[in-house]
Amino acid sequence: MDHPILRAEALVKTYGQGDTELVALNHVNFVVEAGEVAALLGPSGSGKSTLLTALGLLNLPERGSIWLRDRLVVAEGVAQVDLAAVRRGSIGFVFQKANLIPFLTARENVLLAMQLNDRVGRAAAARAVSLLGELGLAGRADHLPEALSGGQQQRVAIARALANEPPLILADEPTAALDSHRGREVMELLKRIAHDRGAAVVVVTHDHRTLDVFDTIHEMEDGVLTRRPGAPA
Ligand SMILES: Nc1ncnc2c1ncn2[C@@H]1O[C@H](COP(=O)(O)OP(=O)(O)O)[C@@H](O)[C@H]1O
Ligand SMILES: [Mg+2]
Repeated sequence: MDHPILRAEALVKTYGQGDTELVALNHVNFVVEAGEVAALLGPSGSGKSTLLTALGLLNLPERGSIWLRDRLVVAEGVAQVDLAAVRRGSIGFVFQKANLIPFLTARENVLLAMQLNDRVGRAAAARAVSLLGELGLAGRADHLPEALSGGQQQRVAIARALANEPPLILADEPTAALDSHRGREVMELLKRIAHDRGAAVVVVTHDHRTLDVFDTIHEMEDGVLTRRPGAPA
């Protein structure tokens, strides 16, 4: 069944102009369904981060349209809704570095994301703790980031990205700073979340060792996106 969470059509993004103009996204089409975990591969500079930030409504393309669960949010490069509000409520981001707030505990870092969405009080506090528990951090909820390993910090960042139960999770090289064992754990976790909650997950990755985790594999080259033939449907 078709349940697209995110659909993008004919995205075009250029940087610079004249002699230095660079087409970072060259008529890119993209769709990701509920429960699907999609990989975005490609050499450095091919436009992966540009695509992810466009899909995440952080960095709009000049041309092309984006639908989030059938709602047109960007039409021909123009915002149709309050993008910041859509981002806060519907999109979870995970970056290469955890970027936790250093003077807040793991629990407070997760809770802050909920507070920004007006989710406060005991239920929110309890959810922050239970999410950390789900991510294997039950005993670490009251630790500051500096007292956590890199893998633990990244799992806190994932808990934060999930705090508001976003239907869409976008991750840019989330395992780059982790060893291969921890990297695989993080990927398996994202997959479990997609499958259990029906979220759509898009991951930029360089790690060819974890490609078996993905439902779909897309490859980017010079701003052009292709779906890798032979990848599982
Ligand atoms: N803010 C920017 N200004 C100018 N050029 C940029 C900017 N961001 C990215 N680029 C260029 O766009 C191309 C795609 O970059 P990026 O999306 O970061 O690729 P990737 O994530 O695949 O490494 C690269 O050539 C990069 O140098
Ligand atoms: Mg990048």
